Amino acid sequence: MSKDGVSASRPNVSDSNITSKRKTSWPFTFFITALVPVVAATILYQLDSFDPAPMPPDALTRHIIDVPARNDRMLEGSELVGVGDLKGPEDVAYEPKSGVIYTGCADGWINRVTVNDSVSHSVVEKWVYTGGRPLGIAFGRNNEVIVADGIKGLLNVSREGTVELLTDEADGQKFRTTDGVDVAENGIIYFTDASYKYSLRECSLDIFEGKPHGRLMSYDPATKRTKVLLHDLYFANGVAVSPDQNYVIFCETPVRRCRKYIIQGKDKGKVDKFIDNLPGIPDNIRYDGEGHYWIALFTGPSVSWDLAVRYPFIRKGLAIMEKSIGRPHIEKNSGVLAVDLAGKPTAHYYDHGLSKVTSGIKIGDYLYCGSIVSPYITRLNLKKHPARATT
Ligand SMILES: *[C@@H]1O[C@H](CO)[C@@H](O)[C@H](O)[C@H]1NC(C)=O
Repeated sequence: MSKDGVSASRPNVSDSNITSKRKTSWPFTFFITALVPVVAATILYQLDSFDPAPMPPDALTRHIIDVPARNDRMLEGSELVGVGDLKGPEDVAYEPKSGVIYTGCADGWINRVTVNDSVSHSVVEKWVYTGGRPLGIAFGRNNEVIVADGIKGLLNVSREGTVELLTDEADGQKFRTTDGVDVAENGIIYFTDASYKYSLRECSLDIFEGKPHGRLMSYDPATKRTKVLLHDLYFANGVAVSPDQNYVIFCETPVRRCRKYIIQGKDKGKVDKFIDNLPGIPDNIRYDGEGHYWIALFTGPSVSWDLAVRYPFIRKGLAIMEKSIGRPHIEKNSGVLAVDLAGKPTAHYYDHGLSKVTSGIKIGDYLYCGSIVSPYITRLNLKKHPARATT
């Protein structure tokens, strides 16, 4: 038996040599291909000083508000306006008397887009160069255009095209990402600085850090004074003055909510709820003059976003990736939510393949949308492609 075993084991010895060779090379290959990057990433992670905070409970809830109607195939039937002439049209401001949309682009230009029934007849005109990155845009009371420029600050652009800086700091703190703006009937300008810590280029780091660096402010042209109305906001973004002039709605992106700041009456200066648990993270908000606000949702809910919100270490990982190799694409189901004057959602337009929509406004039968990354404005005929009841 033992002889048989020995003789039988002979070829096995060389076999086991081969296997043992394989055994020693296998961990080595594993070490090279898997462990080294893991160790490197761990060291990188430990060395990086980026220190994200837990998000507040409002951001952590998975609950999403019910919307009675939706069109979840928004891209079907969408037309493209100004293809190639617009570089990341972030906000859209519509002037009914001229039939023109004003929009700020990534190349520092404010463009005028003539709204026309036929997309091919829409004309894009390079209007004024701010030298910065025009984001929020609104019409002033003296025929001027007021711009929240992400790099420069709050700007007054006259119809003749003169650019004047109105303000770029408050309470001794410079704005880093002047973002949303609207103007009340009495001329007071309401605007946000999304972050005093991070510049526009680093704005996702602000969101990943999960700390409130945003402020809601007002600028009074009569006194030229800038007043901080609210601080410690989470990436303070879009702003809209209510048509009755009683409050200002402001969006806080990572916490998926818009609140109102009361500017008139006995509750002046107080903050009230407007809408929570949005089906995505809000960017700009615009009033259409017909009873609805349109809230752009930069990205809809997704597993990766949800995990990032929940776990600071994932946000740290994303921040390191963003700084070194670029962030993975985690935005989808972007779109626009229509909300009535009381803050009740009425319709949700979105698409799985859509990301980074930053503004939306209804003009006539159409929903026009801007995006901080796309080379055009999209429009959707709401009569032909309406939101349908969800139940
Ligand atoms: C903006 O500039 C125009 C032209 O100089 C002026 O008439 C207007 O009052 C200014 N607006 C603000 C808000 O300062």
